[in-house]
Amino acid sequence: MDIEEIKKEAIEKIEKIKENIDLDLFRKEYLGKKGKIRDLFSLIKDLPIEEKKTLGQKINQLSLEIEEIFLLKENSFKKEIKEEIDFSFPAKATELGSLHPITQVRREMENIFQMMGFSVVEGPEIETQWYNFDALNIPEGHPARDALSLGKTFYLKNGNVLRTQTSSAQVRYMQKMKPPIKIIIPGKVYRYETTDASHETNFFQLEGLYIDKNVSVSHLKAILHKFLESFFKRKIEIRLRPSYFPFTEPSVEVDMLCTVCNGKGCAACKKTGWVEILGAGIVHPNVIKNGGIDPKKYKGLAFGLSIDRPTMMKYKINDIRLFHSANLNFLKQF
Ligand code: PHE
Repeated sequence: MDIEEIKKEAIEKIEKIKENIDLDLFRKEYLGKKGKIRDLFSLIKDLPIEEKKTLGQKINQLSLEIEEIFLLKENSFKKEIKEEIDFSFPAKATELGSLHPITQVRREMENIFQMMGFSVVEGPEIETQWYNFDALNIPEGHPARDALSLGKTFYLKNGNVLRTQTSSAQVRYMQKMKPPIKIIIPGKVYRYETTDASHETNFFQLEGLYIDKNVSVSHLKAILHKFLESFFKRKIEIRLRPSYFPFTEPSVEVDMLCTVCNGKGCAACKKTGWVEILGAGIVHPNVIKNGGIDPKKYKGLAFGLSIDRPTMMKYKINDIRLFHSANLNFLKQF
């Protein structure tokens, strides 16, 4: 048996190999279960122990060397394959995500208000009870604390709450800024609701606050009218209906002439011809005082609208729960 001979032969062979399939055959011929190395081992099986040992070491050595040239060749093939990649070939198109419909509408609303001179600010979602209730003229024991939120408020162990309304940021900004103040506060709010097609435990609101020397209901009406026409991109008719919020006086609810039936009455407006879209009013003097501003010198108007509702109206979405469903088929439409 000539180990050197086998090695030489293997090197010559592998040098000629040009294709993967031959390389495979080479591996089988030398390193496989029925390959030449195995054959060599079985040849020395019955030799005396000393001879078996020295020859065994040599065969092992040979096996390692052949394996090495095999791996080298294999690697050079891989490299060649890599180099064959055509980098100018057009790539597979990747699927792009899109902004959530709520985010799109929120940004659209922000733009409209910014054009009217409002600054966009945010407030904390975890809020003290004071900012969420007391500062807004809703002291403990006040019936509105019940109607508006008790039983609907998520209380945290430390006494804080998940804000039930973006109005909670009003007094925070009054304390920080000097009038005139002209801000909107978009953000998430939380209420312990039984969820159905039109109720969610968290949804989005957009709060508006305008404080200056001579602010009146006619400013409120003009701002909201202008906003709604820009948002829905059509003529809009609105009406103010007297209502009650502890933090505004007078308080109004704003209805919009139903865009589906043009006021004739249909299912979307519950046959009334009007759709309620937001709450608003003239900021209560107590609230202005809580903000560290003199209510004798300054007046304010405030409004709070849902972002979810107009998004649903705009895109004709009939179930609010879809927004948080992570349903890709729904989201891909936007
Ligand atoms: N915070 C009120 C609500 O959640 C809306 C509102 C805001 C009313 C500002 C008046 C003034 O329903």
